[in-house]
Amino acid sequence: MDYIAKTTSVDKETADCVVVGIFKSKRLSDSAKKLDKLYRGSISNAVQRGIAGGSLEQITTLHNSARSKHNCIIVVGCGEQNEFTISTFQRVLATVANEIKRIKTSNVINCLTELPVKNADALTKAQLSVTAIESAMYSYSKTKPSAANSKTYLKKQKFITHDRQDIADIRDGIEIGQAISTGMNLAKELGNLPGNICTPTYLAEQAQALKNGNRKLKVTVLEETQMKKLGMGALLSVSNGSIEPAKLVTMEYNGGNDDECPIVLVGKGITFDTGGISLKPGATMDEMKFDMCGAASVLGTMKACCELEIPINVVGVIACAENMPDGNATKPGDVVTTMSGQTVEILNTDAEGRLVLCDALTYVDKFDPEVVIDIATLTGACVVALGQIPSGVMSNDDELAKDLIKAGELTGDRTWQLPLWDEYQSQLDSNFADIANIGGRWGGTITAACFLSRFTKKYTWAHLDIAGIAWHQGKQKGATGRPVPLLTEYLLHQAYEF
Ligand code: BES
Ligand code: MN
Ligand code: ZN
Repeated sequence: MDYIAKTTSVDKETADCVVVGIFKSKRLSDSAKKLDKLYRGSISNAVQRGIAGGSLEQITTLHNSARSKHNCIIVVGCGEQNEFTISTFQRVLATVANEIKRIKTSNVINCLTELPVKNADALTKAQLSVTAIESAMYSYSKTKPSAANSKTYLKKQKFITHDRQDIADIRDGIEIGQAISTGMNLAKELGNLPGNICTPTYLAEQAQALKNGNRKLKVTVLEETQMKKLGMGALLSVSNGSIEPAKLVTMEYNGGNDDECPIVLVGKGITFDTGGISLKPGATMDEMKFDMCGAASVLGTMKACCELEIPINVVGVIACAENMPDGNATKPGDVVTTMSGQTVEILNTDAEGRLVLCDALTYVDKFDPEVVIDIATLTGACVVALGQIPSGVMSNDDELAKDLIKAGELTGDRTWQLPLWDEYQSQLDSNFADIANIGGRWGGTITAACFLSRFTKKYTWAHLDIAGIAWHQGKQKGATGRPVPLLTEYLLHQAYEF
C-alpha cells in the first residue's frame, strides 16, 4: 500500500473517501468544517439529525454525488476530547479500518492525525494509523485458499496536515508503522499456521529465510546433539516425547558497532503444547498451536529491525520444541540437569515453557547482553489475573520494566507489572532437586517468572507473559502479532535515546 504525507487542505484534494473525526461535544474538527462547507452543511446536518455523532467508535458514511471531489465521507465518533488517549485513538482507527474494508474503497484521505491525542505526537499518530489499517488488511489464507479471494481494495492512503513541520514526522511514523506491520504480519502468519506445518524445524527455516537480502543478519541453528553437549537437559526434556526435534535458533542483527553489547530477545517456541504426560484437557487444546507466539514475536521484531535498519545490535533467540506424550516423554517427578548446572524436578510436564526458556536464558549469557527480554505464552494464570488486554511484565530491574511499559503505552500494546519479590521463591522448593518446575496454586504467573529468575542473575532481565494477548479466541480466532509493536518501539528508543 502507498502512504503519502502532504501539506494541504482537505477541500483541495480528491479521493474516493475521506475520514474525519468528531468528538462528543459535536464540535467538528478543522477538516470536517472544511468539508461541511464544501458540501453545504452535509456533516453538520447529519449530526443534527443524529445520523452521525461523537460517541466513541460511532461510525457513519455519508455519500456525495458522483462528481464530487470525495465520493464519501466517513465520520467517526471519538468520544470525550479530554479522554482521547492512544488506546481510544486506536479503537477509533480500528473501527475506521473495518469500515474502509467494508465499503471497498481504494484511496483514502485520513484526517484523523489532526486530532489531539494525549501523549501522542504527529509521528506516533501516523504510526498508529498505519498499523491499524495494515492490521485490518491482514487475512490468513495459507491453509484456507478460499480466503485468498477476499482481496483488499485499499491502495493508497494520504495523511494531510496544514503544518509543514509535521511532514517529516508523519513520514517517519509511516515508515515505522509499515515496518512494525510487516513484523506483526509475520508473527500472525506463523502463529496461525497449524502445528503440523509450523514445527520447530519450520520455525528454524523461517529464521534462515529472514537472512535473505539482509547482510546485517546472521542465523545459526543448534540441533539436539549440540544442545546435549551444552548440557541443556531442561530444554531437551520437553522434546523427548515428540518425533519433532527441538531447535535453538539464534539471529544476530548487527546494526551497531561491534563492541556494543546487544539487546537479547528470547522467545518461547512451543509449536504445540499438549501438556505432555500431564495432558491438557481436550477443549480448546487446538489453541496450543499458538504456544510459539513468543518466538513468532521475536522473528517479527527482528524483521522490523532489519527493515528499519535500527542502529543497534540485537540478538533474537527462539527455543523451539513440541510438547507431546509418548514412551520417551518426561514423567512427573523426573529430575533433569539444566545448562546452568541447577537440577529441576519436573512435577508437571505442562509447565514446559520455563524448561525450554531456562536453558536458552543460560545460553544467551555468552552474548554479554545489555539486557535480556524473554517473551512467552507462559501461564494461564496470567490470563486469569490480567485478562486479554495487557501482557504481564516482571523484571529484576525496575528501569527496564518502566521502559517496556512506556513502549507498550506508545504503541497501544500495553503491559502491566507484577511483583517479583523474594518471598515467592520458596514456592519452588523441591525435596529432590534444586528447583521444582511449578510453584503451587497461587501466583502462578509470578512463580513462573521466579523460576526463570534463577537463570538470569548475571544480567538485566525482563519477562513478558503474553498468554492473554498473543491470540484472539472465538469467532475472531487468530494470532494478534503482539507484542511486536512494544518490542520494536523499545528498540527504537534504545537506539535513538529519545
Ligand atoms: N502454554 C501454557 C500456558 C497457557 C495456557 C497460555 C492457556 C495460554 C492459555 C503453558 O505451557 C502451561 O501449560 N502452563 C501451565 C502451568 C502450570 C502447569 C503450572 C498453566 O498455565 O496451566
Ligand atoms: Mn504447558
Ligand atoms: Zn506452553
